[in-house]
Amino acid sequence: MPTVADLRTSEEPITMLTAYDAPTAELIEAAGIDVVLVGDSMGNAVLGHETTLPVTTEEVASRTAAVSRATDDVLVVADMPFLSVGVSEESSIENAGRMVKEAGADAVKLESGPHTVELTERLVELGIPVMAHLGLTPQRVNQLGGYGRQGTTKDAAREILDLARAHEEAGAFSLVLEHVPANLAAGITEELSIPTIGIGAGPDCDGQVLVITDVIGLGKWSPPFSTQFGDVRSEIESAVGAYKEAVESGEFPAEEHSETVEEVDDVY
Ligand code: KIV
Repeated sequence: MPTVADLRTSEEPITMLTAYDAPTAELIEAAGIDVVLVGDSMGNAVLGHETTLPVTTEEVASRTAAVSRATDDVLVVADMPFLSVGVSEESSIENAGRMVKEAGADAVKLESGPHTVELTERLVELGIPVMAHLGLTPQRVNQLGGYGRQGTTKDAAREILDLARAHEEAGAFSLVLEHVPANLAAGITEELSIPTIGIGAGPDCDGQVLVITDVIGLGKWSPPFSTQFGDVRSEIESAVGAYKEAVESGEFPAEEHSETVEEVDDVY
């Protein structure tokens, strides 16, 4: 079973993908991906919400449990949803602890800011490994006014760098950098000794993460910094269309899909 320590010593670029269910997690593990993130991106990706804000602790815990049951050989990280941490130390610890204790996560990820430095320290102290997340933090969409690139001015870049250092010092085992200039991500990666994992942050992070529905081509929309590596949407369209046609034409179910039992012939 991989641990957060393996991630720190990884020589190759770290690969991380999101997953929200057992079969997808199983396939991701079989492909040799290092980390599965049960992201609150499930809100937009599979739960039909427009943002990640409505995602609940219960939803992340239930899907983390499904991913954990399906995998042995991949690090499972549960994403802490909006307001599941930060309201009080007690409820933050309870919610993060639940991901590890009940759902089987190996670590939690917190969308980070000045308010998560002490909390990161406390969680790590209690034995809950923490992945920090800086740059674009989608749970702040109402403050940010959208999903634009972050850290594009000297002051904003400095603030991200300072927070990155503070979270490393607080004991975070890695840091996600989302939608920041590639040169800022490269600089932070150089500065920190914990691995950085980028999304829309250029090629110089220690690893990369993408949302699974973007990678496989299941979603209707994906961000410009993502790449579609497959076209599962058209596979599903064609399979569902073929099923409909086969039922309507009487082709399905065929003889090999049906069984008759003589004894029940004269029941009516
Ligand atoms: O929720 C998520 O999937 C994430 C990644 C995009 C890093 O936070």
